[in-house]
Amino acid sequence: MQNIIVESPRPEILRITINLPNALNALNRAVLNELRTALEALDTKQRIVVITGAGEKAFVAGADIAEMASFNPSEAAAFSRMGHELCSKLEALEQVVIAEVNGYALGGGCEIILACDFAIAAENAKFGQPEVALGVTPGFGGTTRLLRRVGQARARQLLYTGEQISAADAKAFGLVNDVVPQTELRARVESIAEKILKNGPLAVRLAKRAANIAAETDLSTANAFEQHTFALFFSTEDQKEGMRAFLEKRKPTWTGR
Ligand code: CAA
Repeated sequence: MQNIIVESPRPEILRITINLPNALNALNRAVLNELRTALEALDTKQRIVVITGAGEKAFVAGADIAEMASFNPSEAAAFSRMGHELCSKLEALEQVVIAEVNGYALGGGCEIILACDFAIAAENAKFGQPEVALGVTPGFGGTTRLLRRVGQARARQLLYTGEQISAADAKAFGLVNDVVPQTELRARVESIAEKILKNGPLAVRLAKRAANIAAETDLSTANAFEQHTFALFFSTEDQKEGMRAFLEKRKPTWTGR
């Protein structure tokens, strides 16, 4: 991989760093392809994916404007499709995906965050959908997932003004869960990952699937899915082990089955 760094600090975690700091980690076609390849290589032992950007200035400052500037409509359509496919893939992963937002998260960068389960930001991070300032609209889900995540009015403000908001405002908007000093960012993400990894692997995976379904469908369909999922757990080793461990006042040993 030329543009991303893929590493496993421990077997359950895959860490992906978009590594074009001189261009503030802007997303070109090569980066999008490498991200897709990295996600396709995930295996079920890996339970958490962390996405971040190289350097201390940017998570991702958007799609690569230098590459996009000369696109014709069919190239633009293909590029938008690549971004959408990547974001949909991220969203549907059985792994929990955490955005570790170390700086600017603009345009396509903000859209990557919206496809993650949640985001933790450094204090210097800035968020926005500045596409209108370039004479275009967002292309990787900014008009769709942003509305669902932060609500109509806040999304519309960001979409029409193109303004950058601070990490503190992004937290108030519900775009990030927590804001910490840059030097503590990785440790904060790792401590959340640790908490997730203590839980039943099947349970976390199915909680994500149920949350994805609930986010996209009507309440009664989502409630039906939840009921079926809950019932199915009672055929698993993890349910038996989790409840037995509680009653025996010990830590569970998960098999993920
Ligand atoms: N594409 C390509 N290159 C970019 C880039 C981008 N999105 N963002 C920054 N860069 C490059 C700059 O051109 C510059 O390169 P050079 O050193 O070769 O000149 C380098 O990164 C550093 O950037 P700046 O000198 O501009 O840094 P700054 O601190 O003065 O400003 C910034 C930082 C406010 C983030 C500014 O770089 C900026 O406004 N970037 C563009 C943000 C943007 O508009 N993003 C949306 C893109 S469109 C999109 O994402 C569409 C979609 O939905 C798919």
